[in-house]
Amino acid sequence: MNKGDDTFKKIIAHCKEYGFIFPSSEIYDGLSAVYDYGQNGTELKNNIKEYWWKSMVQYHENILGLDTAIFMHPTVWKASGHVDAFNDPLIDNKDSKKRYRADVLIEDHVARIEEKINKEVAKAAKRFGETFDEEMFKKTNPRVIANREKIEVINKRFVASLEAEQLDDIRALIEELEIACPVSGSKNWTDVRQFNLMFSTRMGSASDGATEVYLRPETAQGIFVNYLNVQKTGRKKLPFGIAQIGKAFRNEIVARQFIFRMREFEQMEMQFFVQPGQEKEWFEYWKQERMRWHLALGMPAEMFRIHEHEKLAHYANAAIDIEFEFPFGFRELEGVHSRTDFDLAAHQKFSGKKLQYFDPETNESYIPYVVETSIGLDRMFLAIVSNAYREEKLEDGSERVVMNIPPALAPVKVAVLPLMKKDGLPEKGREIFDALKYDFLCQYEDKDAIGRRYRRQDAIGTPYCITIDHQTLQDNTVTIRERDSMQQERIPVDKISSVVSSRIDIRPA
Ligand code: GAP
Repeated sequence: MNKGDDTFKKIIAHCKEYGFIFPSSEIYDGLSAVYDYGQNGTELKNNIKEYWWKSMVQYHENILGLDTAIFMHPTVWKASGHVDAFNDPLIDNKDSKKRYRADVLIEDHVARIEEKINKEVAKAAKRFGETFDEEMFKKTNPRVIANREKIEVINKRFVASLEAEQLDDIRALIEELEIACPVSGSKNWTDVRQFNLMFSTRMGSASDGATEVYLRPETAQGIFVNYLNVQKTGRKKLPFGIAQIGKAFRNEIVARQFIFRMREFEQMEMQFFVQPGQEKEWFEYWKQERMRWHLALGMPAEMFRIHEHEKLAHYANAAIDIEFEFPFGFRELEGVHSRTDFDLAAHQKFSGKKLQYFDPETNESYIPYVVETSIGLDRMFLAIVSNAYREEKLEDGSERVVMNIPPALAPVKVAVLPLMKKDGLPEKGREIFDALKYDFLCQYEDKDAIGRRYRRQDAIGTPYCITIDHQTLQDNTVTIRERDSMQQERIPVDKISSVVSSRIDIRPA
């Protein structure tokens, strides 16, 4: 097991132990790739949603919110291409009987070559010290060059085979790369087949009269079919955007890595409608904006990178992923896609309804182009908790686990802790709690030694602990302890709210 696997297991266990995430239907042994959010997870998730919603809808005059149904007319998915093209190439290992996504097997193989490059760079950086020029090293080191070429050849061949639907060649590539099944270790593979990822169900009572409907695999289509409703009732001119947060469902075959790849998940998507011809400019704009949003949370810049798509989705003319370094490596966190007029033109064709925008400045009607930003809420959650998890050895030799969650997103903002459960301290604590609960989500705790209570709050990422002691009864002051530094300072009771507010307020980017 490598260090990343070990840390990841600890994070999963921590999320369960401290009420962030539970396996779904756990008493029935769970349901694969479906999870429930616990009391702290729900708060963190709501805070992420609010941070995204404010930065999109509240801070942009020209972006409006929407909340559309999960069920949509089945023709929506025919028009969008999901019925015919929302497939994953699958391959089975004959010995373990396990099924894999062929693209993920190849992606993992490429990630291992990238890992070799990174190790080579790290070794050289150590050897050369301050004089090390990473870019120059990558351009000139023969082993790095050879490995980069290998990656390029693999990616090119894979994309070409997928685009030409040459599934035999994808199998051949897996065999040539000697990719082994992670479970059986064998290279005994079946043919590659395409598999549609949409869940379907039946709507209506009589089985013969019922219609087959799909659980939406993305929230975007609800925005497309409503764009003229919003544009007209909101009296918007191009460019303008529509944002939505909601559930999406995909019958993922290789559902693994905890909440990274789920069958039921949430997306935060924004479709930005622009004049045809301006989409590349807006694509660049949203790429930068979304990166700025992530960095404004204070997460380290080196944990993010941009991956340009080689194989574009059926609807896009340009696309990037914002990747994050999860404990199992760099993976997609968010996508920014230039979707052209693909979706609106297709809905116009399939519905027979005009979906053109009348431009009052040019006196012309046309179908707008769309730039989309799409982030998985659960993946954002995983990025935050995996970056936040820290095991620390303290000066006194004790240890703590602390969740270094950005304070604005922390589930509980303030814990109110009387030092002892006597001498009127609990009563004073309750009085402070009752005043603060209107400003922030607070917790009151008076059981156990104060050190153990601090540890429990550290473990859920509470940024501030207020301690009530005997001095509080004399001069109406408390100590406020900061989670990361563990520094304490004394402040008047009537200043707690403003001090905490000023420290947890981050304006979304
Ligand atoms: N509307 C465009 C779209 O859906 P996507 O790249 O398929 O694009 C967008 O998905 C985002 O949704 C991804 O970047 C990821 O964060 C999230 N996502 C996709 N599939 C997911 C899954 N099975 N589990 C959790 N999140 C997922």
